[in-house]
Amino acid sequence: MRRGRGYRRRVGCVEVSIDINGTVLHREIDPRMLLTDFIRHEARLTGTHVGCEHGVCGACTVQLEGVAVRACLLLAVQAHRRRLRTVEGMAAPDGALHPLQQAFHETHALQCGFCTPGFLMAIEPMLTRAGELDDSELRELIAGNLCRCTGYDSIVRAVRLAHARMAQTSELPASAPPGPSAPPGPSAPPGPSAPPGPPAPPGPPAPPGQAAVSERPIPGEPSARPDRPPAPRSRPLRRAPVALALLVLAGAAAIGLRRRE
Ligand code: FES
Ligand code: FES
Repeated sequence: MRRGRGYRRRVGCVEVSIDINGTVLHREIDPRMLLTDFIRHEARLTGTHVGCEHGVCGACTVQLEGVAVRACLLLAVQAHRRRLRTVEGMAAPDGALHPLQQAFHETHALQCGFCTPGFLMAIEPMLTRAGELDDSELRELIAGNLCRCTGYDSIVRAVRLAHARMAQTSELPASAPPGPSAPPGPSAPPGPSAPPGPPAPPGPPAPPGQAAVSERPIPGEPSARPDRPPAPRSRPLRRAPVALALLVLAGAAAIGLRRRE
């Protein structure tokens, strides 16, 4: 970032560079700034809505490196040097709507539209799978986004329509119709099996249709959380000095009593 003469860095602020919809934005921000605030107030992209601010409603969903995430649960610094896409990045540069946006429009999949940017951002990465899923599975995938006024029937219809159109224009692989199964070929000789590794510890569950946000290191950046030294083990209680102090106190009390007598 170029700085003019006399520039003074604000105390406690950090510099971030975030690629939003293909434009890299450099800003100096409070490290505690939420990604939603960065998008809406620093980048001035107000298509990303803020509903619950607790990761429940999905209105703030954006795509970080192509993965749908809740912007209200992320800090802006977590998007440093990463590719972020908001609903403003969906339409073509000439203003033509994305097939999913067009399908929402045609099937009346929105009324007030408050939830719509979140739905579009959450559904688009899973459109390739839409052909393989039945309606209930599709509903389950979008259950992480709440719509309070439209109803999910038309949203599911919009997903089907967008998938069909994109498959026709070969933007998506068309789902193959179930055909006769291929005859079994000769089976490969069994190779040496790898020794089983230790099972991975289970992580917290991600909201339906969205990936869990992992703490990936930012390329070229030192790890945000360097390995901590092991915590010092608690020392066993030392009882001897305590017993000694009690003895001294008892002795002093006895001497005091005798003097009074
Ligand atoms: S505002 Fe982020 S999930 Fe509701
Ligand atoms: S269209 Fe109004 S909340 Fe979904």
